[in-house]
Amino acid sequence: MNLVSLRDVLEPAEKGGYAVGAFNANNMEIVQAIIESAAEERSPVILQASQGAINYAGLDFIVAMVKTAAQGVNVPVVLHLDHGTDFKQVMRCIRYGFSSVMFDGSKLPLEENIAMTLRVVEIARAVGVSVEGELGKIGGTEDDITVEEREALFTDPEEAERFVKETEVDALAIAIGTAHGPYKGEPRLDFLRLKRIKELTAASIVLHGASGVPDDAVRQAVSLGVNKINIDTDIRQAFVGGITAFIKENPANIDPRKIFSPAKMEMKRIIKEKMRLFGCSGKA
Ligand code: G3H
Ligand code: 13P
Ligand code: ZN
Repeated sequence: MNLVSLRDVLEPAEKGGYAVGAFNANNMEIVQAIIESAAEERSPVILQASQGAINYAGLDFIVAMVKTAAQGVNVPVVLHLDHGTDFKQVMRCIRYGFSSVMFDGSKLPLEENIAMTLRVVEIARAVGVSVEGELGKIGGTEDDITVEEREALFTDPEEAERFVKETEVDALAIAIGTAHGPYKGEPRLDFLRLKRIKELTAASIVLHGASGVPDDAVRQAVSLGVNKINIDTDIRQAFVGGITAFIKENPANIDPRKIFSPAKMEMKRIIKEKMRLFGCSGKA
């Protein structure tokens, strides 16, 4: 299938009360693991590339790999830019064929975040590309801040209402207690805040940093209206775990294909598990 936009997969998710998984990819094996999992689960899927992934693999390679993989399957695939912070880079992604982009202005003052995101929405919408914005600061598990300091960075529901009204983003990434990377303890999500944000905004709500979030918390977030869930760290761990285990058992092996195959299987196992948890399995 040709690539579709976030709207194409998130509107049915909103109506059906489930979330679509958004999985990060950096290389061919990860792209294949994500798209094959989606085809085998009959699930819509969002494949996202960060600026780091684009620097690593190259914009043309990412687009070519994802388009080729998507054309071989019969489920909707979105190619989405993850955490784009540079206006020119966002424009390049649109030009190269991304069907969706995130403009992450969360580090900017509110007025500037609104103005920049709106600029992206106006251009992207004119060419049928969807936009995710971010309000509040999601941050990383390695950030050296206290719980109170992190809570101060959570998304303000009234600001979210204004942000969505003024920018008309298709999706909004919010900060409610998740963080990027592996958690040291158990993350605690602010569900009341999520409920309030959902009541006040029309955009699809996105949960970042979902690797390592307990299944029950994910289910509750979905029941309260989260429609896009981002997973990267769990895939990285599956990839490296698969490679490490294979090399330990086969120290003399020097065939990359043999080393990557079990890693790909491990990634597919995790991705499919997440698709079932999010409720998007069987929805394509
Ligand atoms: O949100 C961040 C994603 O996990 C991508 O990470 O910028 O290292 O590619 P990255
Ligand atoms: P994790 O790496 O914590 O799963 O976060 C992924 C993410 O939010 C990508 O934008
Ligand atoms: Zn993120």
